[in-house]
Amino acid sequence: MRAIVFDNPGEPEVLKLGEFEKPVPKENEILIKVAATALNRADTLQRKGMYPPPQGASPLLGLEIAGTVTQVGDNVDKWQKGEKVFGLVPGGGYAEYAVIHQDMAMRIPQNFSFEQAAAIPEVFLTAYQALVWNGRLQKGETVLIHAGASGVGTAAIQMAKEMGARVFVTASKSKHQICLDLGAEKAIDYRSEDFSDKILEYTNGKGVNLIIDFVAGPYLNQNIKSLAVDGRLVNLATLGGGKVDDFDMRSILSKRLTVIGSTLRSRSLDYQIKLTREFAAFAIERFNSGKIQPVIDSVFDWIKAAKAHRYMEENKNSGKIVLKID
Ligand SMILES: NC(=O)c1ccc[n+]([C@@H]2O[C@H](COP(=O)([O-])OP(=O)(O)OC[C@H]3O[C@@H](n4cnc5c(N)ncnc54)[C@H](OP(=O)(O)O)[C@@H]3O)[C@@H](O)[C@H]2O)c1
Repeated sequence: MRAIVFDNPGEPEVLKLGEFEKPVPKENEILIKVAATALNRADTLQRKGMYPPPQGASPLLGLEIAGTVTQVGDNVDKWQKGEKVFGLVPGGGYAEYAVIHQDMAMRIPQNFSFEQAAAIPEVFLTAYQALVWNGRLQKGETVLIHAGASGVGTAAIQMAKEMGARVFVTASKSKHQICLDLGAEKAIDYRSEDFSDKILEYTNGKGVNLIIDFVAGPYLNQNIKSLAVDGRLVNLATLGGGKVDDFDMRSILSKRLTVIGSTLRSRSLDYQIKLTREFAAFAIERFNSGKIQPVIDSVFDWIKAAKAHRYMEENKNSGKIVLKID
């Protein structure tokens, strides 16, 4: 089958259309003719040789797929040939065919294109897990979502609103409007403003109950300052670096804070299946009724994968970058 491959790690231009062995579905897997996949930062890190795929996963890039079932494994009882599905995979999405466990697949929402469906799994599942499982977000609480216009950020804003929370974001100034349109109450330009001052101003000095963060090191002190008593900080990435030069643990104790780190790809299959089923129960009807939606920045033909990677690494996107596979 055709797939996007690379011989050696490196810059986006190492990516090229090549050949790879077509996967064979195991007993609980279904084989998908992939119509669309989408980019994640994990793909760019894997391309650079900095994020090896988990054991047993396809070495091809691509953590999410949307397409049509073409073959089912011996124990598959949930899906039939011809059905249109989408879901999270541990790798292998940048290809004509990919396998997915039958319990990880979700039915494509009504009237959704393959491109729209492919833009959902990684960022919505990550955001759901961060808000609900890690962050224990409650109705009426306040949440600060960093990188609000990112794929995960745009998913988190919408779901937090649906859960009855008040949402604040940080983002580049040019990306504020999209965050506000999705339901954020205030957007903070982290380049020109101290976000912790703004958060304390917006919350009458109390701070927020939950922060979803991807920046890490340079944000830690401001994050801790921005949290209310019993607040939770969920860290999902280290876009700004991991190190912190000067940090005082006392505010974590005095405010009874919880600091949580999480990575979705390293979770067990059972964990990911449980998350997928719970997310689907929360989200599919909301997608059908338009209450939440995948935010797509751009769709690239998959032979332009290198261009798409460069675009992401230049932080140009608001929402998801999708690859259309022909
Ligand atoms: N832990 C997990 O399970 C998990 C799962 C999925 C994704 N992630 C991670 O979550 C992050 C977001 O993923 P995504 O796919 O949503 O990313 P994305 O759509 O590519 O958006 C990332 C955005 O973050 C902002 N940013 C980048 N570097 C920054 C910095 N140093 N300081 C402040 N803001 C910065 C940029 O927006 P502005 O222009 O607004 O600065 C950029 O567009 C990635 O790092 C990804 O690896 C983690």
